[in-house]
This record gives sequence, structure tokens and C-alpha cells, in this order.
Amino acid sequence: MIARRAFLQSAACLAPAAFRLSAAEEPLRVHAAAHGLLYGAAANYRALQNDSDYSAHFAEECNLLVPENVLKWSTVHPEPQRFDFVPGDFLARFGAGHEIQMRGHTLVWHEQLPRWFAETVTKENAREYLETHIHTVMGHYQGRMHSWDVVNEAIHPPDGCDDGLRKTPWLELLGPEYLEIAYTAAAAADGHALAGYNDYGLDYQTPEQEAKRMAVLALLRRLKKQKIPIQAFGMQAHLSAAQQKNFQPQVLRRFLGEIAGLGLKILITEMDVSDADLPADTEARDRAVAEVYERYLTAALAEPAVVAVLTWGLTDKYTWLAHRRADAAPARVLPLDVEFQRKPAWYAIAKALDTRR
Ligand code: G3I
Repeated sequence: MIARRAFLQSAACLAPAAFRLSAAEEPLRVHAAAHGLLYGAAANYRALQNDSDYSAHFAEECNLLVPENVLKWSTVHPEPQRFDFVPGDFLARFGAGHEIQMRGHTLVWHEQLPRWFAETVTKENAREYLETHIHTVMGHYQGRMHSWDVVNEAIHPPDGCDDGLRKTPWLELLGPEYLEIAYTAAAAADGHALAGYNDYGLDYQTPEQEAKRMAVLALLRRLKKQKIPIQAFGMQAHLSAAQQKNFQPQVLRRFLGEIAGLGLKILITEMDVSDADLPADTEARDRAVAEVYERYLTAALAEPAVVAVLTWGLTDKYTWLAHRRADAAPARVLPLDVEFQRKPAWYAIAKALDTRR
């Protein structure tokens, strides 16, 4: 793939202008790199193994990948004393072979815990299981990861816990200190990778999302004040075209600016735009979804601390948002359609990347 890309780029330089790829048509990774950014997507392990069209388009468009699922506990830590790096290593080899950086997702989360977890982990041994998991998994990829979602989705004010923390097994087993334990272990396991905190539901001007933004900011301020080794924030950006009326660019810019003010780099980590509540007409849906991508990313990329944009999948062929529409029409939520054709969303992302100064 590298040879193909190099040949195309060299040939493009020699080809008459009529045959040269216009700048606008360059892959998203080229639009991103031209402005010092990374563009990537969540990688579907099985599809990368079995769908050659998918892997070719992934390599063409992306210079950053994140495993959608295979570095979560249920896959990478299937038994108390056993780790399974086969899927993660496949993705790491794919990335290394196509000049694609890799980021890790996720070391501490309340979902996708293996069946053995609840019956094995206690208050007495939880710290050891947590530290061993982080040391083993991060250590396995030491020096090869751009960044990690060390802790994922720890804030949920409706749970009513102190500091807006989500009521998770980790909070119940270790108390709020689980966050400090996780980031301290991560720093010891791989000081090369940016250690991040990743969350969702922070994008719109609603009372619930404002409360969550305040709680996330308070958490990040506390961790920084305590000199806990955290260097990045992941803004998942799971958006909805139906929520567009609640999107105010200045609210997003203010929030990202306050995070940047803590000295943290920012990644847009899981962007997609649900079209579940849009009319069935695909042209109208594609236009509405593209507008969401362009408005959100143009606002986000005005923040210099934003260093990467990832969509949660590259093609509508592989999205977690499939089968969400009442009319059962296929989802049209990502840059490429099910046949890997670029949609208005692709052009919207390219245009937003090009606004980066
Ligand atoms: O691998 C098993 C398979 O062996 C089994 O036959 C099948 C049926 O039970 O399940 C498969 O595991 C599924 C896994 O995706 C891999 O396909 C899980 O059931 C399913 O719950 C899991 O869903 C993932 C979800 O996170 C929960 O981990 C989605 O694909 C993934 O897109 C979604 O991603 C999350 C981020 O990690 C965090 N932010 C939100 C985002 C969307 O929910």
C-alpha cells in the first residue's frame, strides 16, 4: 500500500494537471497532515482481516487507528491470568505496515468487562487486577501507541455520586482513587503514549450536558492540581443531526479552550452523526449529516490543542449505529458509504480539516 501511495503521489507530480489528484480529492489523512493533524477511525478487526476493500480504503484515508473493541477487557483479558493480544497485534501490524499510528482504547471502563470479573475481583484485590492489567496491556504496546484512553466515561452526574462520578465497579471497588491509581500505573507502563481521559455527551447546550461539562472540567482540574500524569482529553463527539438545534459553536469552543488551558492535548475520538431521526431521503440525510460534521469540526479545529480527529468507523458498512432507524433504512453516518464511496460527510470533514490554521 505504501508503494502504491508513493507511486501515485510521484506519478501525480509527473502527470498532466488534468490527471493529477486535485487537492480537494486527496485522502483525509493528507488533508489532516497538511495542517499537522491526524485523521483516523475506529478499526473493525474482523473486517480488516476479511474485507480487502475496507482495509484498502482504511489505509488510504487514515493515519491513525483505534481498535473499536479488541483492546477492551473482555477481549484482551479473557481470563484472570490470561491476556490475548492476537487481535490487537494484528491491528498494530496493519498500522505499522501502512504508516498508520495507533491509539489504545480502553484500559478502565465499566462496560465490556469479562464474565470472570464480577465473581473474581474484590475490594481487596481490585487494585492489583487494575495495575496488572494496565502494566501488561500498555507494556505490551510500549512505545508503539500515540495515546491511550486510560479511563473512559467515568463521569455521569445523574448517578448522584460525589464529583459527578459514574457509579461503576471501579468506583465501588476502589473509591474515587481508582482514577489516580490508573493514571499512575499508565505513566509507569508507557511514558511515550499520551495518557487520556475520554468521554461523551459534552457537545450540546442542554442542562444535562452543561452539568456534565462542568463535572468533567472539575475532574480534569483535580487531576492536574494533584499532578496526576494525564496529558490528553478525548471528546467522543457522538453527535445527532436531530440535536443540531442545541449545537452552539461558542459553547464547544469555550469548553475545549478551558481544557486546553489545563495544558491538555485534545483528540476528537469517536465522531459520528446519527441520522436516526432524519427523513428517509438519502440526499437530504447526507446533506444534514455533512452539515453537522462541518460545523462541529470547524469549531473544534479552531482550538490549537486539538491534535487528531477520529470517526467511530470509516464506512457505513461497519458502524455501531446500524439498525437504529424506525424505517430500517441503512445508516448513513460516516464519511464513506457501504460501497466505500465518499459522501458529503467526507467532503465536510476534508473542508473542516482545511480550515485549520
Ligand atoms: O465479540 C462478540 C461475539 O463473539 C459475540 O458472538 C457477539 C454477540 O454477543 O458479541 C460480540 O461482542 C460485541 C462487540 O461489540 C464486538 O462486536 C458486544 O456484544 C457488543 O456489545 C460490542 O459493542 C461495542 C460497544 O462499544 C460495547 O463495547 C460496539 O461495537 C462499539 O462500537 C462501542 O463503542 C463504544 C466505545 O467503546 C466507547 N464510547 C461509546 C462507543 C459506542 O457505544
